Amino acid sequence: MRAQPNAVGRPDVSERPDINTRADIVTLVTEFYRRAFADPQLGPIFVDVAQLDLPAHLPVICDFWQAVIFRAGTYRRNAFGVHAELHARVRLTPELFTRWLELWMATVDNLHSGPHTDRAKLQAHRIAESMSRRLADAPPAPAEAETTPASYASSGAVTASGRRRRPSEPD
Ligand code: HEM
Repeated sequence: MRAQPNAVGRPDVSERPDINTRADIVTLVTEFYRRAFADPQLGPIFVDVAQLDLPAHLPVICDFWQAVIFRAGTYRRNAFGVHAELHARVRLTPELFTRWLELWMATVDNLHSGPHTDRAKLQAHRIAESMSRRLADAPPAPAEAETTPASYASSGAVTASGRRRRPSEPD
């Protein structure tokens, strides 16, 4: 059955399609970063601090979400380490993680519904909580610290499912 647009021009929740393909993830992630770059709280971190080259980075981020949502072996990097390095330059506060999650949830809900969609939201929640908690325990950013412990960035990692990586496990 064709999805009927509601008053705001989107299909009703029950009729929005699930996240089913890599192409769905590309569309979702592109829309999320469009919002994140334009966001007053998060935008400056992507644009000014990380100077993120989004077209170059998008495939990596899509690999990550493909691994999370479809349990595919597409992502073998250390997402926590990337954010730990960033946190050493600008504090990634719990408020920023809350904002990140708000944007992610809203973007996902605007486009999709279904089991994979639920997984994309649940895992984002778990991973964001895990990252935020571990970064809160981390040494402060250089502006607040006397030294920058360079070793910190490589001191740990979470897997794509948000689980703490075992020491013997490769990044
Ligand atoms: C305060 C919240 C967050 C901010 C400000 C943030 C910002 C960033 C930035 C700037 C990068 C690019 C870093 C670089 O390459 O220099 C990045 C990469 C990435 N972020 Fe986040 N992020 C946040 C939370 C999250 C969360 C909660 C997730 C997952 C649920 C996530 C997933 C990723 C992934 C997969 C990458 C690519 C990592 C790689 O290169 O392998 N981020 N993020």
